[in-house]
Amino acid sequence: MAALARSVLRYSARHEAAASDSFAAHVIHGLSDSSKWLSAKYFYDAAGSALFEQITDLPEYYPTRTELRILHDHAREMAGYIPLSAALVEFGTGSTRKARILIDAAPQLAAYVPVDISAEFLNQEAVAVRRDFPWLAVLPLVADFTRDFDLPSQIRSRPRVGFFPGSTIGNFEPDDAAEFLRQAGRILGVGATMIVGVDRIKDTAVLNAAYDDAAGVTAKFNLNVLTRMNRELGGNFDLSAFRHRAFYNAEEHRIEMHLESLKDQSATVAGRTFDFRKGETIHTENSYKYTVESFRTLAEAAGWRPVATWTDEKDYFAVHALKL
Ligand code: AVI
Repeated sequence: MAALARSVLRYSARHEAAASDSFAAHVIHGLSDSSKWLSAKYFYDAAGSALFEQITDLPEYYPTRTELRILHDHAREMAGYIPLSAALVEFGTGSTRKARILIDAAPQLAAYVPVDISAEFLNQEAVAVRRDFPWLAVLPLVADFTRDFDLPSQIRSRPRVGFFPGSTIGNFEPDDAAEFLRQAGRILGVGATMIVGVDRIKDTAVLNAAYDDAAGVTAKFNLNVLTRMNRELGGNFDLSAFRHRAFYNAEEHRIEMHLESLKDQSATVAGRTFDFRKGETIHTENSYKYTVESFRTLAEAAGWRPVATWTDEKDYFAVHALKL
């Protein structure tokens, strides 16, 4: 599997069956390592996606509401970076809520291309966007946005603007994030613009609370990967024998999420038995945080020129405009 595809992407329930072979191989690979790990992309089965939606509404989880605020407050300035008759290409459209803010502010947009791996979800969203913006050509594209894909032929002659909100880029390892931006540049072509939402480095207590909320929703989200392995790969993980751990690793500039074994135990999954010592963890997610400068440096290394950054009054989140 390509390095980039190992990083996070959201899978729909519809893809669970098709993906189960590679899921088994992945689990055996990750749990056989001396430091056990699993890719965060396996969080997003139907239950995990629903839990993630709940996370975005939690009082501690500031990224979603802060980014929405920035988009609302600065959409008109952002629209200034969108050329006449351009196509907006959204990478990994989890919801069209954020794109709608840009589309509203940029009537010069001629087309919207939401890219997602779930056809069913995309088609539902496309119908709603067409209804609300009848002048816009809405061209949903079913693809894994972490891999190379071809844009629809209808937008070949249009200027392209990429949109990658939500700080999903933070779930890539930094090298993979740069590779993603390079690839997005190749897909969008010379002269393209890219608008990217990125979570910022901030007070550790704020970061830790966002990934370890009082209501325990993030804990459920993390533990759900054990439920998923039990259901899909014939596993026998005892969920009460693991606990959610999330903390900011200041050296690596990232939140780490782990599942910690509460006792010496073994569990069988995908036909293999794995031993866990008390206190041993399965590393399930990284969520990298950037300063405005460190993200600009990463974008530059990937061939993009940072042209504008918008932020909130607490300096929690940043939306960057980049040009090729
Ligand atoms: C999807 N992604 C940007 C979220 C994040 O903040 O890294 C995933 C998440 N994990 C725990 N809470 C939210």
